[in-house]
Amino acid sequence: MGALYYKMKLSRSVNCLELISHSPEQTQRLGVRIGELALPGDILLLVGALGTGKTCLTQGIAWGLGIEEYAFSPSFVIVREHHGRLPLYHIDLYRLDHIEEIVELGLDDYLYGNGVCVVEWAEKGLSVLPIEHLMIEISYLSDTERSFQLKPTGKRYLEILAQLKRLSLDSQKGLK
Ligand SMILES: Nc1ncnc2c1ncn2[C@@H]1O[C@H](COP(=O)(O)OP(=O)(O)OP(=O)(O)O)[C@@H](O)[C@H]1O
Ligand SMILES: [Mg+2]
Repeated sequence: MGALYYKMKLSRSVNCLELISHSPEQTQRLGVRIGELALPGDILLLVGALGTGKTCLTQGIAWGLGIEEYAFSPSFVIVREHHGRLPLYHIDLYRLDHIEEIVELGLDDYLYGNGVCVVEWAEKGLSVLPIEHLMIEISYLSDTERSFQLKPTGKRYLEILAQLKRLSLDSQKGLK
């Protein structure tokens, strides 16, 4: 895996990390790192406008979990399940009309299960999604650049953030 040239901003809040990706491949590599660090029950909430890179990041997370088959083609399915080192529950709330559907569709079985949940368009369901999570806010900077702001809530997610910070510092020193 090639070097990651992220510009890292250790911002005012020590509990937040901003990474800039310069290509879809870099975004996938960030996903791979997250997938490699993931533990059962982890909740990753992706927030960002259309086409910012939520699915691209999820593809990397899947690879990091050892999931080889990859077919995140557009579909009307809200949850897709993939099996690697751990199950990956890829939830896309884009088509969700009412927040009650999260409960009606039985999404709690996934959200409080033993897999890793990645939720696209998480802002649509924030009030009923688990309070402890890693929020990843993606913003469009240019055709090829995206900002990833990682905001943890809860001890487990502070731990993931600390691990990712260490990895990012290593990659800046050319160690990774
Ligand atoms: N640095 C980057 N990181 C991620 N994607 C990028 C980057 N630069 C360009 N892109 C392009 O942006 C698009 C991201 O598409 P993707 O489907 O991942 O977005 P999304 O946020 O899941 O969209 P949607 O809201 O429709 O689900 C792809 O066409 C990808 O090639
Ligand atoms: Mg998507």
